[in-house]
Amino acid sequence: LSGLFQPKPLANRHVLISAGPTVERIDPVRYLTNDSSGKMGIALAEAARDAGATVTLVHGPVREALPTGITTKAVESGDEMLEAMLADYDKQDLVIMAAAVADYRPTVRYDRKQKKIDGPLRIELEETTDILRTLGERKTNQILVGFAAETENLEKHAQQKLIRKQADFIVANDVSRADIGFSSDENQVTVYGNNHPAVHYDQQSKTRLAAALIEQFTEALQ
Ligand code: CTP
Ligand code: CA
Repeated sequence: LSGLFQPKPLANRHVLISAGPTVERIDPVRYLTNDSSGKMGIALAEAARDAGATVTLVHGPVREALPTGITTKAVESGDEMLEAMLADYDKQDLVIMAAAVADYRPTVRYDRKQKKIDGPLRIELEETTDILRTLGERKTNQILVGFAAETENLEKHAQQKLIRKQADFIVANDVSRADIGFSSDENQVTVYGNNHPAVHYDQQSKTRLAAALIEQFTEALQ
């Protein structure tokens, strides 16, 4: 019974999380996207909710069932995700970019389905806005967390992202391993932080890992 009266660690806190892929349209029926399942971001949203936080989950198209007891916002493109993330950014205590944002979008988006042409089709791509970096530039008191999906030089790339995006933590995972990461139910990560020693989390279910990560980020809140 005593558990009933135990204050939850994230009570009265606001947590904003992004999950899943983004989609950049070429024309009304064709698009660029990636294999992100959204599982890690969804697990983080559930863990934050269970810790007592008011949670908003901004998500690209995902097959997973969305958690109850939180606010969910469905988006498609990186620009839509950016707008949704900025909407209530100022009141957040903890913000986690777990989404796999498409790095490029077509420079032209056609309103009509494009017909086949003779010879090879060339599609020109331009970079999308870096959402995490934008959030980093506008940071006030939020603890800001990003992910890093790497196939090599995990630590070096994660440390560079920490600085470039002005994040407080980067959760790095090795996506060269097929058994963990993107669409798997398990993950193994190392968290790099500003003025923090790296923390390694052994391979475990995304649910358990999410609870451990939320605990680590909660400790960094003032
Ligand atoms: N990210 C973002 N907006 C983008 C691209 C990435 O907010 N347009 C975020 C991701 O959600 C993640 C972090 O930045 O939290 C790192 O993403 P990652 O793909 O590992 O790094 P990039 O900066 O895109 O660099 P690269 O893909 O070349 O490794
Ligand atoms: Ca990327």
